[in-house]
This record gives sequence, C-alpha cells and structure tokens, in this order.
Amino acid sequence: MKERIIVALDTDSPESALAAVRSLSGEVGLFKVGMELFQRGGPDLVRRIREAGCDVFLDLKFHDIPNTVAGAVRSAAAMGVRFTTVHASGGKAMLAAAAEAARGTGTTILAVTVLTSLDDGDLASVGFSLGAAEVVLRLADLAFTSGVGGIVCSAKEVAAVRARVGKEVALVTPGVRMAGEDAGDQKRVVTPADAVRLGADFLVVGRPITRASDPREAARAFASAMREGLARRGGD
Ligand code: C5P
Repeated sequence: MKERIIVALDTDSPESALAAVRSLSGEVGLFKVGMELFQRGGPDLVRRIREAGCDVFLDLKFHDIPNTVAGAVRSAAAMGVRFTTVHASGGKAMLAAAAEAARGTGTTILAVTVLTSLDDGDLASVGFSLGAAEVVLRLADLAFTSGVGGIVCSAKEVAAVRARVGKEVALVTPGVRMAGEDAGDQKRVVTPADAVRLGADFLVVGRPITRASDPREAARAFASAMREGLARRGGD
C-alpha cells in the first residue's frame, strides 16, 4: 500500500522538498509537486526527485485549448512524471487531446472535476446550473469517456465516482486524516481506511505526514490503515 501514498510537497523551497523526499523515500510511492513548488524548482527539481528513486505527480491543472494542453502534457511527459493533471471542465476535445498526448509515455492524465473550494453557489455564479455533486459526476463521465487514466476527487465523492467509472480508472483522493487527527483547513475529511474501502486507489497526504513528529512512522501508519481499508473493500 505504501506505493499508493502520494505525499504533497506543499512548500516553496526546493531544498526542503528534497529533504522530505530523502527522508520519506522507501515509505511512500510518489511526491506531488504543485504550482507553488514547481515555479521555484522547475524541471530540475522533478529530475532530482526522480534521481532519488521516487515518482512525481506534477499537479499543474492544465486548462486551455486542446492543442496547448497537448503540448503541456508532452512537456510533462518528457520530464518523466507519473501523473499530471488537467481540469475536466476544459471539455471533451481537450481531455481527449491530453489523453492522446500521454499515450505511449509513462505519464497518466488525471482529471480534476470540481475544486472542493467551490460550492453550489460558486458554481451558479460562473454559470453552472447543476449542483456540485451532479457536476462532479458529469465531469467524471466526460473524463472517463475521453480516455484519461484517472480522476482526482474528494473522499466524500469517491464511491459515487467509482460506481460511475469502473475499475480501470485510477481514483486519487486528498483530504485524508487519521481518526481524531487535526483536520487543519480541510473541512470534509475521511480516514485512510475508509477512503480505500470506498474505492480510492491513491491517497494524497500532506501535513499528516510532512508535519508529523516522525514522518516515516506516520507514513507507515497510513499504509497500514490503507491495507485495512482494502481488506474491507466490497464488505460492510
Ligand atoms: O496537508 P493536506 O493533507 O491537507 O494536503 C492535501 C493536499 O491535497 C494539498 O496539496 C491540497 O492542495 C491537495 N488537494 C486537496 N483537496 C482537493 C484537491 C487537492 O486538499 N480537492
């Protein structure tokens, strides 16, 4: 299960990101590099994480015309990242172009449905007439039928999305906390065991691991909870 833990490197310092990678490699599968860190560390940081023997999830959430997104995906794939993200709301042609650009590379496209910072009122204000739960499922369908390899969704949505998209699509879930653990700014959290039981394939975990007094031990506890969730999948 440890290969299915993605540690979010939420820092603006490439050096502290690399220190976290060195300390946690061997205990987790991947490291997520987002917009803040990538703009500081660039492709060189991605290369150094990979040289440390770890896979990279490059989370830049592309959203542009199909031709531009296809080029962005090719550039991400050239860095050898395992996952990269696009916004599913970019539409079918954009999603298909992203999936096509990734084909035959070692990079899998993950589609982001509705950001968890948006509620029904926010969606209405940008012209969506459906509520967030319905939009998530519609975008998950669109992503699936456009050939992308995975979907990022909140743990609260993972069961509904899984029921819609079948087993071959990777579901990647943030907002995970151990029972009783400080949720920080996350409002809708699920335990690692439940997230996996409900159908998540990969968990994105930031502070519960990176800010733990013993990050390696925290990662091991997550892996063990995920194994428990997998054993209960399809059960209760
Ligand atoms: O520290 P924490 O475990 O809350 O970090 C979760 C990571 O997942 C952060 O990088 C955050 O940006 C990301 N994320 C999230 N919720 C989403 C999408 C991404 O928390 N819906």
